[in-house]
Amino acid sequence: MPRFAYVDGRYVPHAKACVHIEDRGFQFADAVYEVIAIRGGVLMDERGHIDRLVRSLNELKIALPMSIAALQLVMRELVRRNRVHDAALYMQITRGQAPRDFRFGPGLVPTLVMTVRRADFSHAKQLADGLSVMAVRDIRWARPDIKTVMLLPSSLAKMHAIEQGADDAWLVDADGYVTEGSSNNAWIVTGDGEIVTRPADGRILKGVTRNALQHVAKLFQLRIVERPFTIAEAQSAREAFTTSASAFVLPVVSIDGKPVGDGKPGPVARDLRAQYLAYSNGAHGAPIGWTPS
Ligand code: PDD
Repeated sequence: MPRFAYVDGRYVPHAKACVHIEDRGFQFADAVYEVIAIRGGVLMDERGHIDRLVRSLNELKIALPMSIAALQLVMRELVRRNRVHDAALYMQITRGQAPRDFRFGPGLVPTLVMTVRRADFSHAKQLADGLSVMAVRDIRWARPDIKTVMLLPSSLAKMHAIEQGADDAWLVDADGYVTEGSSNNAWIVTGDGEIVTRPADGRILKGVTRNALQHVAKLFQLRIVERPFTIAEAQSAREAFTTSASAFVLPVVSIDGKPVGDGKPGPVARDLRAQYLAYSNGAHGAPIGWTPS
């Protein structure tokens, strides 16, 4: 079946989809993006992702290319045309096209690109084996709270980890604290059962899945603590895990070659994943079928 992409007002065959070489997204990484999982045909945590998209655009003073209601229609139409049930939807919005210049004027027309890609959300292997991660120095720019397409440091960090035989990188700041994963938020469960993740202090992306998990954990009266932690603390934690829109909750079983806990996927990550999936199906007050006012 041919895949379709959406580019600036048109649904086009994926293989032929393109933007102009003078697009500022290409020339300056002057663009933001979102990734939304579609599970059983439903956009997961749609509201959280759209809210964050609007925030990212506002931080960079890029205009929203269409109303949110229109954006939602395009997302649904793209899902329909691609006939996907379980998939990841990617949306990039750039400041637009202009002759290459560090300065930019106010009148640019933002470029909007959307694609969907089938996904296997069973994550069977990662759940059975758990992930191994490696500490890599966080060399990203000072605004990782904005979801920009400037992903080269994260991509290089992940490649470095893979070349060393790990599955992913956990980024570490200049003070030795974990910021987040290459494309996910990082969590640990301490010996006395606290669930710890770094605060959204401007040094991480405030994950939509992270927010949902905090909501779910509070419902179950689990103790969530927001504070930075080091690689050494994570290595001696009872459990570790990551969260993201495309992987939900995945256990981390080793860090820099040292097993976390007993080196096997742990029960807290497993239960949180199950409850997060229940939440995304409408349990626990999830905003399913959300339409903006
Ligand atoms: N990544 N931190 C970073 C650096 C990320 O890139 C992501 C998401 C997250 C988790 O955020 P959320 O729960 O909203 O997905 C945290 C997406 C999935 C990606 O780039 O593919």
